[in-house]
Amino acid sequence: MCRLLLLLLPVALRAAPASSCAPCHREIYDAWRRTPMAQTSGAAAAADLTHAAFAAAGYRYRVFRDGEALSFDFSGAGVHATRTLSWFIGSGATARSFLLSGDGYLFEAPVAWYRAGDKWDLAPSYDRYTYPFLTRPALPACLNCHATGIQVVSGTHNRYADPPFAEPGITCERCHGAGERHIASATAATIVNPASLAPDRRDSVCAQCHLSGEVRVMRPGTTWSTYRPGDRLADSVAVFVRAGGTPGMTVTSHVEKLAQSRCKRVSGDALWCGSCHDPHGLSAPSRQKCLFCHESHPCTETLAARNRKQDECAACHMPKSSVTDAQHVVYTDHSIPRRPRPAVAAAPTSTDLVPFGGGRSTARDLALAWGIVAARGDRVADRPRAEALLATALQESPGDVELLLYLGEIYRNTDRGDFAIPLFQRAIRLDPAQLTASVGLGGIYLERGRPADAIPLWEDALKKDAGLVLVRTNLALAYWQTGDLRAAEQHLAKAVAMAPGLAAPAELLEKLRRARQ
Ligand code: HEC
Ligand code: HEC
Ligand code: HEC
Ligand code: HEC
Ligand code: HEC
Ligand code: HEC
Ligand code: HEC
Repeated sequence: MCRLLLLLLPVALRAAPASSCAPCHREIYDAWRRTPMAQTSGAAAAADLTHAAFAAAGYRYRVFRDGEALSFDFSGAGVHATRTLSWFIGSGATARSFLLSGDGYLFEAPVAWYRAGDKWDLAPSYDRYTYPFLTRPALPACLNCHATGIQVVSGTHNRYADPPFAEPGITCERCHGAGERHIASATAATIVNPASLAPDRRDSVCAQCHLSGEVRVMRPGTTWSTYRPGDRLADSVAVFVRAGGTPGMTVTSHVEKLAQSRCKRVSGDALWCGSCHDPHGLSAPSRQKCLFCHESHPCTETLAARNRKQDECAACHMPKSSVTDAQHVVYTDHSIPRRPRPAVAAAPTSTDLVPFGGGRSTARDLALAWGIVAARGDRVADRPRAEALLATALQESPGDVELLLYLGEIYRNTDRGDFAIPLFQRAIRLDPAQLTASVGLGGIYLERGRPADAIPLWEDALKKDAGLVLVRTNLALAYWQTGDLRAAEQHLAKAVAMAPGLAAPAELLEKLRRARQ
C-alpha cells in the first residue's frame, strides 16, 4: 500500500544527460561532443597536456604527471609545496584554467595553460600576488558557465560534492531546457528550441554565459542557478555596461560587441548569434552568412585589386584582437567594424553604468551595480556615489541582504563601524548563507576588543569558505586574546598549510610558539 502510494507521487524532473538525447539525435550529439562548449570542463587528470616549468614573481613552478594525476609544485622564498590539479575549466581552444580541492572546497589554481606558444604560465590576473595564491574560491557562477548541474553543498560558498558537477561541459539542456518530459513524449511542444523563442528569450540562451557586461547584478530573490532556457535573462540578472561603451574586448563580450555593430543595429532582431553560428558544430561561420544580407558589397573591387579571396570577409571585418581580462589570448571582434579599430581605443565618453540593451533599471539594481564596482580594488573613487545610491535604495527595501552587505562594507572600509554594525547584524539574521557580514562584523568586534564575539562569526564564515586564510589568521588572534592558545595554534598551522608563502600567519605562528615555550 505504502509502496504504491510512493510510486504514484510525482517524480521531480531529473536532469537528462546529453547521452539520453543521442539515440534520436545521433548526428547532432556526435557533432556537439567535439565542440569546445561540450569540452569546456572535466577531470584535470584527463587533460592531455605536456609538463613544463616557468618562473614568476620570485617562484619557480613545475607542472608534471604524478602517476595518473596532473600536479604542480612551486619553490621560492624558502617555501616548497605541491598541489594536485583536480578539474580543468576551458577546452584549451585558447586557454585552460584549473581548480584545486582542499577538504571538499574548490579553489582556482594559480597556473594555467595557453595555446598561444603552447605554454604554462600564471593564470589571468595572478601576477598581482607576490606569493603563490592558492585559495581564491571557485564560485558556483564560474562553474555554471563551464559545466552542467553544479552541486554546491548548501550553505557554503565553494564546497562541492565530488564530482562538483553532474556533467562536464555545456550539455543540451543548457540551451534546450529540461529534457525528461521530451524524452518521454518526443514532440516539439515538450522541448525548448531557441530559434522558435521570442527574440529576447532566444538571445538570452547564449547571453546567460556570453554576456558579462561591466557588472552583473542578481535580481532580488534569484541566484546563479535561477535562469532556464525559455526565460528572459533580464528577469533574473541585470547586466550593466558603461554608457560610453567599453574600450577593448573581454573574454565574454560577444553579445555586447555584436550589439554595437551596424549590422545588428540596423537589422535588429533578424540578426542573432544563431545567424552565423551552429551551436552543435565546429565550423567557423562562412562568408555565406554575410552574403545572406550583403549580396553586394563595395569591397569586392578592392579585393580583386588585392587579389585576396572574397571569403575572408571576417578577416577584414571581424579581426582578432587581444582582450583586457586575460593575457595570451585573442578573440574575434563582433562589432564588425568597417575598418579595423585602432590599436589604442579612444577613452569612453561616459562611464555611467546603464542596463545593457536599454530600458530602465531599478534603483536597487543600479545601487548594487555601483556597489560591486566600488568594491573592486581599484575603484575607490566610485565609493561616494555607491554609498549614496545604496543608502537610498536601502530605505526603500530595508530587508534586502545584498544592499545591507555592500553598504556595510563601505562603512567598514571607511572606519564607520558604528554604521556598519546594525547593517551586518540585520544581514546575518536575514540570510544564514551570507559570508561578508560575518567576516566584516567579526573584524569590527576584534578591533573593538571583543574577540569572544568575533570567534563564532569567523568559525561560521570558515565553514562557508575554508580558504579565507586571513580570516583564519585573525580568528587565531581572537582565540589567542581569549586565552585559547591551542585553538589559535591549530588555526595558524592550518593557515600556513593552506597558504605557503603568505607571511602573516607564518609570522604569527612563530610568535605564538615562542610565547608558549
Ligand atoms: C525518443 C526519441 C527522442 C529523444 C530521446 C530526444 N528527442 Fe528531441 N525530438 C525527437 C523528435 C521525434 C522530434 C521532432 C518532434 C516534432 O517535430 O514534432 C524532436 C525534436 C527536438 C527538438 C526540436 C524542437 C522544435 O521546436 O523543432 C529539439 C530542440 C530536441 N528534440 C532536443 C532534444 C534534446 C535536448 C534531447 C535530450 C534531452 C532530446 N531531444 C531527446 C525525438 C527525441
Ligand atoms: C558568465 C559566464 C562565465 C563565467 C562566470 C566564467 N566564464 Fe570562462 N568563459 C565564458 C565564455 C562564454 C567563454 C568563451 C569565450 C570565447 O570563446 O570567446 C569563456 C572562456 C574561458 C576560458 C578560455 C577557454 C578556451 O579555451 O577558449 C577559460 C580558461 C575560462 N573561461 C575560465 C573561467 C574560469 C576559471 C572562471 C571562473 C573563475 C570563468 N571562466 C568564469 C563564460 C564564463
Ligand atoms: C550552446 C547551445 C546549444 C547546445 C549545447 C545544444 N543545442 Fe541544440 N540547438 C541550439 C540552437 C540555438 C538551435 C536552433 C538552431 C537554429 O535553428 O538556428 C538548436 C536546435 C536543435 C534541434 C532542432 C533543429 C536541428 O538542428 O535539427 C535539435 C534536435 C537539437 N538542437 C538537439 C540538441 C541536442 C541533442 C543537443 C546535445 C547533444 C543540443 N541540441 C545541444 C542550441 C544548442
Ligand atoms: C552554459 C554556458 C554557455 C551557453 C548557454 C552558451 N555558451 Fe557558447 N561558450 C561557452 C563557453 C564556456 C565557451 C568556451 C568553450 C571553451 O573553449 O572552453 C563557449 C564557446 C562558444 C563558441 C566558440 C567555440 C565554438 O564552439 O566554436 C561559440 C561560437 C559559442 N560559444 C556560441 C554560443 C551560442 C551561439 C550560444 C547560444 C545558442 C551559446 N554559445 C551558449 C558557454 C556557453
Ligand atoms: C542579418 C543581416 C546581416 C548579416 C548576417 C550581416 N550583416 Fe553586415 N550589415 C547589415 C546591415 C543591415 C548593415 C547596415 C547597412 C547600412 O548601413 O545601410 C550592415 C553593415 C555592415 C558593414 C558596415 C559597417 C559600418 O560601420 O559602416 C560591414 C563592414 C558589414 N556589415 C559586414 C558584415 C560581415 C563581414 C558580415 C558577416 C560576417 C555581415 N556584415 C553580416 C546586415 C547584416
Ligand atoms: C555576423 C556573423 C556572426 C555573428 C552574428 C556572431 N558571430 Fe561569433 N564569430 C563569428 C566569426 C566570423 C568568428 C570567428 C570564427 C573563427 O575564426 O573560427 C566568431 C567567433 C566566435 C567565438 C569564438 C571566440 C572568438 O572570439 O574568436 C565565440 C565565442 C562567438 N563567436 C560567440 C558569438 C556569440 C555569443 C554571438 C551572439 C552574440 C555571436 N558570436 C554572433 C561571426 C559571428
Ligand atoms: C581585404 C579586406 C576586406 C575584405 C576581405 C572584405 N572587406 Fe568589406 N570593406 C573593406 C573596407 C576597407 C571597407 C571600407 C571601405 C570604405 O570605408 O570606404 C569595406 C566596406 C564594407 C561594407 C560597407 C559598405 C558601405 O557602403 O557602407 C560592407 C557591407 C562590407 N565591406 C562587407 C563585406 C563582405 C560581406 C565581405 C566578404 C564577402 C567583405 N566585406 C570582405 C575591406 C574588406
